[in-house]
Amino acid sequence: MSNNHSVSVVAIDGPSASGKSTVSKRVAQELKFTYVDSGSLYRGMTWKALRESVNIGQPEQVLDLMNRMKLEFYAENRVVLFTIDGEDPGLQLRSEPVRENVADIAAIPGVRAFLVARLQEMVRFGDIVMEGRDIGTVVFPESPFKYYLDADPEERARRRSLELKNMEGVGDVSKVLDSLTRRDKKDSTRKTAPLQIALGAKVINSTSMTIEEVVAQIVAEVRAALGT
Ligand code: DC
Repeated sequence: MSNNHSVSVVAIDGPSASGKSTVSKRVAQELKFTYVDSGSLYRGMTWKALRESVNIGQPEQVLDLMNRMKLEFYAENRVVLFTIDGEDPGLQLRSEPVRENVADIAAIPGVRAFLVARLQEMVRFGDIVMEGRDIGTVVFPESPFKYYLDADPEERARRRSLELKNMEGVGDVSKVLDSLTRRDKKDSTRKTAPLQIALGAKVINSTSMTIEEVVAQIVAEVRAALGT
């Protein structure tokens, strides 16, 4: 790679359980790019707020905590991870309290401004695949590789409930559909950076596609454009 090779960013947005995480991780592996899960930062902030018993309904308390805490990033096997005040939240990011509160944290404009700036700094890890809700619209709108992954709500609920069954032993599809619908509504109707299809983004509806097909399409397009 030459020194003046500019960093490539593949931005992958979409609603919950649209297949974003699996697809983004595999695209990153195939391209040998570093994978960044932006949602994990919003979850990390939520985990910290819950743990410090901050009232999430009081944005100024959340912002105060955010400005006091120490957030550090590192890459391991081409995956960006972080610690907050020296602690790795790990699987706690996926816990139910975090899941149920994260959309409220993500709706606070000051939290978004802070995390968007941290996400923009991720190019220091080199070429990246970043997944989220506003990567193509706000974080890296100039990227030529913008994707919006979607799938029908019932299919997304089915996929997420399978995941939850594997992790927690339970995963009632109708409850999951309920929770996903509530979160998507919050994410797409919030005032700051709502979930939207970015200008110039390619929409992929994966309802009747396999993960492999989606990955292959994105990888082929990026390789063709970069001539790699
Ligand atoms: O992708 P996820 O389920 O881990 O996202 C968790 C929450 O964070 C979800 O409510 C959407 C929000 N989020 C966001 O607002 N912007 C991002 N770039 C990523 C996630």
